Amino acid sequence: MPSRAEAITAAPSVSLDRVRAAFPALAQKVNGHPLVYLDSAATALKPQSVIDAATAMYAVDCANIHRAVHKLSQRATAAFENARAKVARFIGAGAAREVVFVRGTTEAINLVAQCYARPRLGPGDEILITGLEHHSNIVPWQMVCEQTGAKLVVAPMDDRGDVPLAGIEARLGKNTKVVAVAHVSNALGTVLPVRAIARLAHDAGAAVVVDGAQAAPHLAVDVADLDCDFYALSGHKLYGPSGIGALYGRAALLSEMPPYQGGGDMILSVTFERTLYNDIPHKFEAGTPHIAGAVGLGAAIDFVSEVGLAQAAAHEESLLAYAHERLGAIPGVRLIGTAPKKIGVVSFVMESAHPHDVGTVIDAEGIAIRTGHHCAQPVIDHFGVPATCRASFGMYNTTAEVDALCAALGKVNALFG
Ligand code: ALA
Repeated sequence: MPSRAEAITAAPSVSLDRVRAAFPALAQKVNGHPLVYLDSAATALKPQSVIDAATAMYAVDCANIHRAVHKLSQRATAAFENARAKVARFIGAGAAREVVFVRGTTEAINLVAQCYARPRLGPGDEILITGLEHHSNIVPWQMVCEQTGAKLVVAPMDDRGDVPLAGIEARLGKNTKVVAVAHVSNALGTVLPVRAIARLAHDAGAAVVVDGAQAAPHLAVDVADLDCDFYALSGHKLYGPSGIGALYGRAALLSEMPPYQGGGDMILSVTFERTLYNDIPHKFEAGTPHIAGAVGLGAAIDFVSEVGLAQAAAHEESLLAYAHERLGAIPGVRLIGTAPKKIGVVSFVMESAHPHDVGTVIDAEGIAIRTGHHCAQPVIDHFGVPATCRASFGMYNTTAEVDALCAALGKVNALFG
């Protein structure tokens, strides 16, 4: 019978060694120790295939898109639009034109806030979010509230870091126009029941916006099954380049919405008297986009699909359970966020040291975690702590790395305890 750690490590059918070998950053030493990268929720490492795909767009197919008839431009355009089709398939969108390339989740949510919500909302209307949101799913809605007179309503998070459905249901009403929720909390790893939330929201007549930044790397996302109206994701958390992300929106809604920004490529014709906007999704993509980023994101999706999202998710789930068990057994460690459904993230504080000191001490051992409020200050305030330490996992992490983290935390206790 294999030990629990062996069983977890052996689980993937694309071996963990093969997965790890694909990520060049893992080959380095940091402060004299092999890198233990436990900060994938901030940004995931990139496989060589993604780096190569993005590089090729500068080294070979280096041209602008949608603009010229020459060969390089044709190839770059095809690669860019092919990447859009890959994103659409990856998240179950009905058509590629329902995928808008943006800088990342933050821009995607701002786009929905400004182009969907702002023109529709007024005094008396409500936008419902939850207590575990990232700032990027709070602030854009606060801005819309200031601009329109609408009100921000928050469904509370409980002490496990979960958001009970009843709390959402109780706050939905005829005034609710938008329900914006994280699929997975970046600070705690809580998975929210987005499908059930969408059903309740639609029954109340509200549009559903999902922040999928932390879900897309871990869960099979199917926007049709979730029945959401908008879904936002970031390339860099999905093993792709930074500065690129995608917004899914129902075609009917995107078509009705005014453009986000004006400029080149978002128009059909321009005169000084009148401009005709382009069709979706181009209407929302003014200016030269991050071409290499989009192609790199397509390569990341290929990579994730080759490993198998289900395999990666099962591995990460086991790793998280192992981390909870091991960390929870360290004297003075308090786990922050113990919701029954979690993925990818374990947050904790130590009695002996402030999170920033913990982060600094273990960095000397080559271990990278994030410390702070994780751009989710209301979550941290809820738990009455100044900050947390957050270890977050990707498909390349191992139980040995969790063991290394725990050994380093033992040193923190020895130093400060
Ligand atoms: N949103 C990123 C994180 O959770 C940066 O760390």
